[in-house]
Amino acid sequence: MNPDFISTTELNAEGFTLKILPPTFKLAVEVFNIFDSDREKMTFFLPDGVFESIEETYMHYKKRTITPNRKMFQIFQDDELLGEIGFSMINPRIGKVEIAFWIKKSARGNGIINKLLPHIEKMAFDCDWCHKIQIHCDTENTASRKIAEKNGYKLEGIIRQDSKWPNGSLRDKCYFGKLKSDI
Ligand SMILES: CC(C)(COP(=O)(O)OP(=O)(O)OC[C@H]1O[C@@H](n2cnc3c(N)ncnc32)[C@H](O)[C@@H]1OP(=O)(O)O)[C@@H](O)C(=O)NCCC(=O)NCCS
Repeated sequence: MNPDFISTTELNAEGFTLKILPPTFKLAVEVFNIFDSDREKMTFFLPDGVFESIEETYMHYKKRTITPNRKMFQIFQDDELLGEIGFSMINPRIGKVEIAFWIKKSARGNGIINKLLPHIEKMAFDCDWCHKIQIHCDTENTASRKIAEKNGYKLEGIIRQDSKWPNGSLRDKCYFGKLKSDI
């Protein structure tokens, strides 16, 4: 088994560059501003609470570097940061990964995730150990639900009151899955 779980660190696909930047203050400022200006929608990505400060954002990225079972790529086009896609959970023991993504408000509506998702899936299914990919999203996250459905994920269940937003709202979640044997 690959000790890095998924070894790809940079990818050019569909006119985008996917890479994992080191956790710098500059990156934290850019990401914080994107999330801070769109807090409600971004809660779909960070249901426990969107970053409250640049310092918190910086620590989030710093922590990622020591979390081997998480691998999120920044998405760039012409050096502009548009969003992220990658693995929010990698579990080689069970043989499954979970894919997560976000796109900044000004870049949405262009199908970027629909274009990039197959490339991310390939990274996972190319690993011998990976037999399942999951996507979890809020039942009210229409864009994410459409992306999962369009890309051949099966809705395996809706888990009621599966998370709680900082405003106290109890949230139901869709669990989508795709098996290697489905493709
Ligand atoms: C989810 C997200 C990444 C999708 O952005 P995107 O890749 O630009 O996706 P698009 O805007 O192209 O939308 C994808 C599909 O959903 C549809 N859609 C988007 N918003 C919709 C809405 N409010 N109602 C109905 N359909 C909607 C689009 O028409 C498109 O459908 P199509 O493929 O049939 O054309 C983006 O909305 C986002 O960052 N949201 C906040 C963070 C988040 O929710 N992350 C995912 C957590 S699971």
